[in-house]
Amino acid sequence: MKVTRAVAGTAIAAALLLTLNPTSAVAAADTGLRDAAKHTGVRIGTAVDMAAFNADTTYRDAINREFNSVVAENVMKWGEIEKERGVLNFAAADQLVDSARANGQQVRGHTLLWHNQLPGWLTAGVTSGEIDAAELRQILKRHVFEVAGHFRGRIVAWDVVNEIIDDNAQLRDTIFLRLLGPGYIADMFRWAHQADPKAKLYLNDYNVEGINAKSTAYYDLVKQLKADRVPVHGFGIQGHLGVQYPFPNNVLDNVRRFEKLGLDTAFTEVDVRMPMPPDATKLQAQAYAYSALLQACLLAQRCVSFTVWGFTDKYSWVPGVFNGQGAANLLDENFIPKLAYDAVKTTFTLGGR
Ligand code: G3I
Repeated sequence: MKVTRAVAGTAIAAALLLTLNPTSAVAAADTGLRDAAKHTGVRIGTAVDMAAFNADTTYRDAINREFNSVVAENVMKWGEIEKERGVLNFAAADQLVDSARANGQQVRGHTLLWHNQLPGWLTAGVTSGEIDAAELRQILKRHVFEVAGHFRGRIVAWDVVNEIIDDNAQLRDTIFLRLLGPGYIADMFRWAHQADPKAKLYLNDYNVEGINAKSTAYYDLVKQLKADRVPVHGFGIQGHLGVQYPFPNNVLDNVRRFEKLGLDTAFTEVDVRMPMPPDATKLQAQAYAYSALLQACLLAQRCVSFTVWGFTDKYSWVPGVFNGQGAANLLDENFIPKLAYDAVKTTFTLGGR
């Protein structure tokens, strides 16, 4: 059934109201988010902590009940795969991919290149000068072919490059930009496309939810890459928010402008943290933020997935990075659904294309 935009809008406005007063009638308790999402054309995903995945059956069961898409929180990153130069360890990543296949879940690949979590031997080699520009380019190319090649046909989309523009809307100053120049970005996409022609290739970053200098820098970069016939297929919007900050403006218009450039879009790392302890007002603000981001995805035409960066407060990167903050996820530390969970489920139930 094709839901007209106006109806979608009205339905979603209703979802917003229900966000604050969810009724179990809409949010059927026994089925997961993936059931609520299945009619919408938008996948609901989560980042997976593989240590927790192997140690906590409640965690693992919740992943398979709630989500039809997964991404590795850490085990597909360069520093985790190639701790020792030339020695590749895909065991944990393969385990996630195999489990996803068995549970009808798509897998997003995160990430072929990021300035963080790089192998120590690589950063040390560049710093000492032992690894020069020509060798770095060869190492980077080999890494893309080895990793994207290894998962060829099993990954629906790759974050090819992560966080390559800084908060001043400039290309981030990394060893790759310094030694290889801005051309390394196009190289990454061309190599990844050769290594896995079916995978959708994404740029991915944070603080690009709304229309601002940083998201506009990406908009201009995409136009240039497209003009140079570089195989870039998607724009990933991380979505790390905080209830203490204003909600980003013009999220839907921002998503739509990237779609007009011929790109798919995705929310790739959504969480909404708060200054601890949680209270009713913060939890309602959190529910609103999750629902409003999801609405933008549902109202857009080519937003293909909405991924949360972890779904339970039991396993979250937030407290370790933002002192005094936390409770960023849809379920609490005892896997009890929070208002945000009901809001997301209700928004899926009432939304859709
Ligand atoms: O694997 C090592 C292990 O060998 C070592 O014993 C242990 C103790 O130091 O550290 C382990 O590495 C940790 C890694 O997570 C795996 O657990 C790193 O210290 C820790 O810093 C790393 O944190 C991850 C962080 O990225 C790194 O910057 C978080 O879990 C992860 O949620 C976070 O995710 C990023 C996205 O990739 C990109 N966008 C932002 C997002 C949040 O920072």
